[in-house]
Amino acid sequence: MKNLKLIAKKMVSEGKGILAADESTPTCTKRFESVKVESNASSRNRYRSTLLTTKNLEQYISGVILFDETFHQNIIGLTKTIPSYLKDKGVLTGIKVDTGAKPFAQHKNEKITEGLDDLRERLITYKNKGADFAKWRAVITIDKEIPSESCIYANAHALARYASLCQENNIVPIVEPEVLMEGEHGIEQCYKVTSQTLKIVFEQLKLLKIDLESMILKPNMILPGLHSTENPSDKVIAEMTFTCLKDNVPEEVPGIAFLSGGQSSDLAAQRLNTLNRLYFNKKPWQLTFSYGRALQQEALIKWANQSDEESQNELINRAKMNHLASIGKL
Ligand code: G3H
Repeated sequence: MKNLKLIAKKMVSEGKGILAADESTPTCTKRFESVKVESNASSRNRYRSTLLTTKNLEQYISGVILFDETFHQNIIGLTKTIPSYLKDKGVLTGIKVDTGAKPFAQHKNEKITEGLDDLRERLITYKNKGADFAKWRAVITIDKEIPSESCIYANAHALARYASLCQENNIVPIVEPEVLMEGEHGIEQCYKVTSQTLKIVFEQLKLLKIDLESMILKPNMILPGLHSTENPSDKVIAEMTFTCLKDNVPEEVPGIAFLSGGQSSDLAAQRLNTLNRLYFNKKPWQLTFSYGRALQQEALIKWANQSDEESQNELINRAKMNHLASIGKL
């Protein structure tokens, strides 16, 4: 476990965060459609090669989460695989290993994340081909009568089984229980559901004897729903997010790397900055980013409409903003 602890620490080393570039093929296709680019293995390879060859990315990014397709591709124009390219840059390679959130039987509008079948074998292959860490995303939906306790328990248990298999195979698990922003709920409801979810997740992780020093938590911030009429300040968001984490996340966990979840790139950076400005010296864990959309949104538009260079400028700019936010100096 010694090596795993070091990798987990490196993933959240001060001033650095994680680039989530692990959109599944359907999600990536949706993103490409929004910028009118055809999505196929070759266009996805070109886009990801552009992102990953951004000069000095390693100054702000400790690791990149990849989707299976990208994991096995080469950087365009080079003969090395993407994991070995990242390794040469000093960047850790992560792999999304869940197979997606599927309808949860007999629970209307709720999802259970699948992917435990064959996971041990897949992890062994990924490890041999250069994976340092993995990601599994569970989604919890807020609506009138949901989430049910059973949905939270089932997802938390799957997260713990995934984390256990990762650690068995020398891979650091990113544990991602995402309470979705979609909905009309207020910030208090998000606080309540996230608190309950984190409590159950850590209960399950402890039950399966997960080494908490060798994992990273990837949660949502505490926010009102996308269709709520509430408009809390960044300070209120930071206070509620910190209180929720302080009450539920054990101090042994080295780092908390937030997902952006549909916030704009600016707001995601601003709120991370407020959190670190208020709590940088009071928190037991590193508070950083593991953003997908909030790092890539503008870079994708430039890639589709302008040039690789413009796209890389956007990405490095966002990475730098979030680097500053992760130390409260934006
Ligand atoms: O699992 C979710 C992604 O890794 C993070 O994506 O920052 O766009 O929510 P997001």
